[in-house]
Amino acid sequence: MSISIAIDGPAGAGKSTIARKLAEKLGYIYVDTGAMYRAMGCYFSGLGVKKEDAEAMRRLCGQADIEIRYEQGVQQVILNGENVNDQIRTEEAGLMASACAKIKEVREKLVNLQRALAAKADVVMDGRDIGTYVLPDADLKIYLTASVQVRAQRRYRELMEKKEPCSLSEVEQDIIARDEQDMNRQISPLRQAKDAVLLDSSDLTVEQVLEKMCRLAESAGARI
Ligand code: DC
Repeated sequence: MSISIAIDGPAGAGKSTIARKLAEKLGYIYVDTGAMYRAMGCYFSGLGVKKEDAEAMRRLCGQADIEIRYEQGVQQVILNGENVNDQIRTEEAGLMASACAKIKEVREKLVNLQRALAAKADVVMDGRDIGTYVLPDADLKIYLTASVQVRAQRRYRELMEKKEPCSLSEVEQDIIARDEQDMNRQISPLRQAKDAVLLDSSDLTVEQVLEKMCRLAESAGARI
């Protein structure tokens, strides 16, 4: 039986940074489910579909082929034969991902892919509904959060480093909009699973969060 660790939480809480490092320490595969929704978002944007056009997303969803590969341990998202890893990290892609994540057909398609990956290997999987829906029997569930201000600051710094023009207040507004959308949608809204451990990273460094997660993983039976 493979081991799975589910990490959920709002945008900018540090999930992907920490989940990647935790997977590295444990020798597990890191599955970034947000990247899959981002790739679907890019697919719809590429077809000129607007964020509000749920009907078009439903209709076109079946034609998108999403495949996950690993190159030197790094997840690569392949959309209709093209590697889109470099295109999915923008703010716009994040907002489009959040919009298309409300669509049942999109979620079904990606959840099947996520479950298939977890069935084959030990995984650290991060997202919004991993502990509540995708892997309800995960060996360890963590809900990682931080205040809106701290999340906006972190995201702003990241974008500055990548030389993407933006303002702190814009980034904060995007985070609030995504929280609103991700927490209030009808299907699989972002929630802390009843059996998830709550970790607030507002006043913690990456190393401190990682250390706490390693201890939790050990108690759940993982070997470090
Ligand atoms: O984690 P991220 O910022 O890359 O995710 C982008 C969007 O995808 C997020 O705003 C909501 C959606 N998402 C989701 O609905 N379910 C997941 N398991 C992962 C992401």
